[in-house]
Amino acid sequence: MNLFEQHSNEFIPRHIGPNEADTNKMLKKIGAESLDQLISNTVPPAIRMSHSLNIPPAMSEHEYLKHIKEISLKNKVFSNYIGQGYYDNIVPSVILRNVFENPGWYTQYTPYQAEISQGRLESLLNYQTMVSDLTGLPIANASLLDEATAAAEAMTMLFNSLNKQDHIERPKFFVDQEIFPQTKDVLVTRAVPVGIEIVEGDYKTTTIDTTYFGAIVQYPNDKGSIEDYREFINKVHIAGAYVAMATDLLALTLLTPPGELGADVAIGSAQRFGVPLGYGGPHAAFMSCKDDFKRNIPGRIIGISIDAHGNRALRMALQTREQHIKREKATSNICTAQALLANMAAMYAVFHGPDGLKNIAKRVALLTQTIAEGISARGFELVSSTFFDTIVVKVKDVATIKEKAERQLINLRYIDNSHIGISLDETTDIGDLYDLINCFENDKDPVAFDIHHDVELHHFPSALTRTSSFLSHPVFNTHKSESQMMRYIKQLENKDLSLNTSMIPLGSCTMKLNAASEMMPLSWSHWGKIHPFAPTNQALGYKYIIDELSKYLCEITAFDACSLQPNSGAQGEYAGLLTIKAWHEANGHHNRNVMLIPISAHGTNPASAVMAGMKVVVVKALENGYIDVEDLKAKAAQYSNDLSGIMITYPSTYGVYEETVKEITDIIHQHGGQVYMDGANMNAQVGLTAPGLIGADVCHLNLHKTFAIPHGGGGPGMGPICVKGHLAKFLPGHITLQGFETLGEFAPGAVSAAPYGSASILLISYGYIRMLGNEGVKSATEYAILNANYMRARLEGAYDILYTNHNGQCAHEFIVDLRPFKKSAEVEAEDVAKRLIDYGFHAPTMSFPVPGTIMIEPTESEDKAELDRFCDALLSIREEIKAIEEGKSDKKDNALKNAPHTQFVVMADEWKHAYTRQEAAFPLYYVTLNKFWPSVARVNNTHGDRNLICTCEPIESYMEAET
Ligand SMILES: Cc1ncc(COP(=O)(O)O)c(C=O)c1O
Repeated sequence: MNLFEQHSNEFIPRHIGPNEADTNKMLKKIGAESLDQLISNTVPPAIRMSHSLNIPPAMSEHEYLKHIKEISLKNKVFSNYIGQGYYDNIVPSVILRNVFENPGWYTQYTPYQAEISQGRLESLLNYQTMVSDLTGLPIANASLLDEATAAAEAMTMLFNSLNKQDHIERPKFFVDQEIFPQTKDVLVTRAVPVGIEIVEGDYKTTTIDTTYFGAIVQYPNDKGSIEDYREFINKVHIAGAYVAMATDLLALTLLTPPGELGADVAIGSAQRFGVPLGYGGPHAAFMSCKDDFKRNIPGRIIGISIDAHGNRALRMALQTREQHIKREKATSNICTAQALLANMAAMYAVFHGPDGLKNIAKRVALLTQTIAEGISARGFELVSSTFFDTIVVKVKDVATIKEKAERQLINLRYIDNSHIGISLDETTDIGDLYDLINCFENDKDPVAFDIHHDVELHHFPSALTRTSSFLSHPVFNTHKSESQMMRYIKQLENKDLSLNTSMIPLGSCTMKLNAASEMMPLSWSHWGKIHPFAPTNQALGYKYIIDELSKYLCEITAFDACSLQPNSGAQGEYAGLLTIKAWHEANGHHNRNVMLIPISAHGTNPASAVMAGMKVVVVKALENGYIDVEDLKAKAAQYSNDLSGIMITYPSTYGVYEETVKEITDIIHQHGGQVYMDGANMNAQVGLTAPGLIGADVCHLNLHKTFAIPHGGGGPGMGPICVKGHLAKFLPGHITLQGFETLGEFAPGAVSAAPYGSASILLISYGYIRMLGNEGVKSATEYAILNANYMRARLEGAYDILYTNHNGQCAHEFIVDLRPFKKSAEVEAEDVAKRLIDYGFHAPTMSFPVPGTIMIEPTESEDKAELDRFCDALLSIREEIKAIEEGKSDKKDNALKNAPHTQFVVMADEWKHAYTRQEAAFPLYYVTLNKFWPSVARVNNTHGDRNLICTCEPIESYMEAET
């Protein structure tokens, strides 16, 4: 390799952990002669990819950053007044640098291990408190994917409250005509498969009877108008139905909150609280509701509990309530949501506090009032006399105004040929008003207007002025200086174990390196400041990334077409299933609604199938973890006429490449079904095999796993779907996508609010592929398999490893059986997970897909030394278990049962255990070099669920504590 090629390839060894010498040692331990031999022994020959991937060769980080800068300049940054749920804002630099750009925050995993997640749990609790306070409803979740899907989640939650799955008594849902068009679009997509009838109309004149289960209105509405819904809500309640309100958090600092108006649920987006536009995302959506819905609200809820010593400790409340865990009984498939962005929005509220937020809102409202009056004074009529940040102007013809606006680099919202919307935001200043009014000026008169900071907001209905206080909790009133804020963020970060401390070997979750060069462009304004509904000719940089990435993903999956719209893996499943459904329907097979799903599948699979209106039939597994082909054959035959397809995960969630996969996909096709492949385990396929080669027709890709998007403590993510050619025209549409009108009657509508989901994070996956290049992405897969098999080989003997292939190899992950220790030492899987914390590690995936086990997925990004430390920890824990088995340690009082050990416990004057403090906290030498302390002891799971508290405790409880 010459010096220049070497330069271009330099990212590969930065991304992949093991060097050549270590690779050889690891192969030796496994008993393989070479990496090629290991791969041949692992991946079935019948499905091996015989060609090399047609994607460009690697670029160095320096080359990539230069390249992506050039691409970014194809995007044109205009001043955006489009609104429609997306607003420019000022991301406080202290939050940008210390949260958004900080691997200590963005590389965290979902806070399942509460003891090492107290920081983000606290921040998410702040988020819930903020949402609950501002909307005036007691229960809030810790984020949803976007405003439109949050509306759909609200609709489904209300539907299920008044209907039984097999008996729909109240099918109708009223949608006010003045809600955002993209929200309507997603509501319709969601409603149709499950038998919900959407009735669109004017809330003022509609009649709601007992055939309705609910209604949704927007506050302020699509045209900016602030409507008083109290009478309507009353009417809906009298009919025994519920009301959801789409709303805006900034407006609610000044408006009577939905809860006080009587709404049952509030939803919306927290994007304008300091999260960049990013051409559609990622942003955190929110949902809050009355107490009655606390067991049905989708997404995660953070709750307050206690630890083993009675101290306050946070955890994800009602964990088994997480909807997708209920499999086909679930009413939502939300798993990955938008934790990182929820944290940013919460920090924005912490930074500004209630007064700061109110000031921002007042400024926006005052500027809007000024421009409204300025434009009216020039002879234009406004659609509404009440408004907060949005006005709609009636015009004779948009063309001249549009031309003038574009000349001034301004985007207005062109609703139709005679209506123009203008939405102001936090970034608008007085100077901008000149340009805006100038769009409506005759080009002769100089632009002039009056603005006084203390005038009354007379376009605000006085009956809807907020009188209740909000965000009175100390956390929203303390951290005002940058030093305070920086330290608060750091204090929380210090409580959380993320990838910048140690490996997080979560099976099925692929916690690999999220490289700095992949992440950096996200902070650039040419990516951040693009509105999702900006004219396409201003987003040519995004178009380039979307087109190229779609091409690469099709090449990697051996498919023909791609939709980048789904903004999580589960949304990809749902979108893929709708695609299959539409294809069957277009072929006249409306009856084909049975989806076969192996018992080992992730809970989102059956949950998504139910959302797509399908009937789930479970397929058994064999002892060795393979799909039971005989059972599959029988079920495929039994449901042959109604078979829609099968959902398989490959390699299976048991971590093996089933040799029978081709047979399985053939059986389904013979019965007229389609094969959906869950791409969560794609990190074991790229460059070696592909969904198209195993006989699948559709797959989703969790870009937040295989393609380097960080997990962000539970989101963001992206779940694009790739399909074979025959399904291409049934991919999800979107009202803003060209050709949407021609998609045909069977094609699904939108599955996300924005046409390309969380578009800005596509850059990360694009960067990953470009810097690794065609060779590097394949090597990544090979090293993921090497690392997993090395760990397997080191642990074998001490632990039972479940499910390997006939050569004794696992794929990119493997399952360690901990069930025997329950009998031999009364040790549970949870004890091992918590003890790993004392060794400085995050536990692997717990009890999925097999209860009582852990599933380890090291990824290619970990080097041998780190893998060894993790194996050493598990082997040392095995010795600790042995000591219990042999009666050398007490069954109740041992380092496993008492784990994790906090600093407070270890340093307390009193120490009553038979093992030493050193054994508790520094069980191996390496721990002394990089000790990570849990901030609480083992968290009590049941206490928090029995006493659900999902907002910060009232201020009085702090006062009591102080006295
Ligand atoms: C096998 C499998 N399928 C689907 C999903 C759902 O993906 P997401 O969390 O992005 O919705 C996961 C998530 O962990 C998974 O492991």
